[in-house]
Amino acid sequence: MFDPNNKNQIRIGFIGAGIVGISLALALRKSDYNVRSIFSRRKKSSETFARLISGCHVVESYDEVSAKSDIVFITTSDDSIQAVASKTNWRSKQLVVHCSGASTLDVLEEARIQGAYVGSLHPLQAFASFEDGVLSIPGTTFAIEGKEFARSFLESLALDIGGEVIYLNSEDKVLYHLTGVMMGGMLSTLAASVSDLWRLFGYDREKGVNALSKMIHQVGINLRQLGIPDAVAGPYSRGDIGTIEKHLSGLLDKAPELLPVYCEMALIGLPYAFEKGNLSEEKLQEIRGLVLSFKNKGEFK
Ligand SMILES: NC(=O)c1ccc[n+]([C@@H]2O[C@H](COP(=O)([O-])OP(=O)(O)OC[C@H]3O[C@@H](n4cnc5c(N)ncnc54)[C@H](OP(=O)(O)O)[C@@H]3O)[C@@H](O)[C@H]2O)c1
Repeated sequence: MFDPNNKNQIRIGFIGAGIVGISLALALRKSDYNVRSIFSRRKKSSETFARLISGCHVVESYDEVSAKSDIVFITTSDDSIQAVASKTNWRSKQLVVHCSGASTLDVLEEARIQGAYVGSLHPLQAFASFEDGVLSIPGTTFAIEGKEFARSFLESLALDIGGEVIYLNSEDKVLYHLTGVMMGGMLSTLAASVSDLWRLFGYDREKGVNALSKMIHQVGINLRQLGIPDAVAGPYSRGDIGTIEKHLSGLLDKAPELLPVYCEMALIGLPYAFEKGNLSEEKLQEIRGLVLSFKNKGEFK
């Protein structure tokens, strides 16, 4: 078994040269870990990876990565992890890790049967390019699933590259992962649909995205600095029922497909607005009644 305290002696290999693989490998290299081998579906991807990670070489098969590594990160798409794990020959006491937030350790069962330690290390982050990906790693929360050795090793590795750590059991994975999807992917969807509304008052969606994404950035800062409920802002937390009514009527008139989303978000947000302490119980019920009266008037196209 490799010595977890002697990090520059540990040989790390990657299968899957995509955005997360490259971002993680760059972060590990920066923290003096040795990323030695890469194998990806396409040679071109492997070569890009190896060019970016000093000391890393392209190898020819899953088995070659495994044979040359103490730790193997499988950073393929989620759907390929299990197939890769099943097609590879693993060694006893080697560590095999995937980075999927939705998959449990079940997908690495074949490696476990062959005697390897198994774990997952999921960065709760939206990676769109490796250049930004590696910059975003410090401060990112990494969710770890694994038993004793895998868990403690992955914890020190995540801390080494500047991450924060939480631990999950298999049964927590779905709930955990959907929080990321709602905050990442679905927030982007919301941004796309409200940016499209900018066309209705004469600006293109890019102008809207540019303006609104700066606001999202500040919302993130407010959430971290003020916490909930203090960071919850807007007409709901102020109890501005006149403004709320204008929104509801405006959406019904101009973009009825967004009205159900607006109403659901408003109803979900009301308890936090109330918790903030500026709303009376009476005002809360008045707003809820108003929103409910509009809720079913909109329709998805
Ligand atoms: N993107 C995110 O925001 C994010 C965040 C957290 C975790 N993750 C997780 O990180 C993992 C990788 O995601 P990603 O965004 O980096 O995906 P990605 O950019 O699509 O990269 C996946 C890479 O895996 C390679 N690959 C796919 N199937 C393969 C196979 N059977 N054998 C060998 N290589 C294979 C592809 O190779 P070729 O280029 O060679 O075809 C591709 O480069 C996933 O488990 C994902 O859930 C992603």
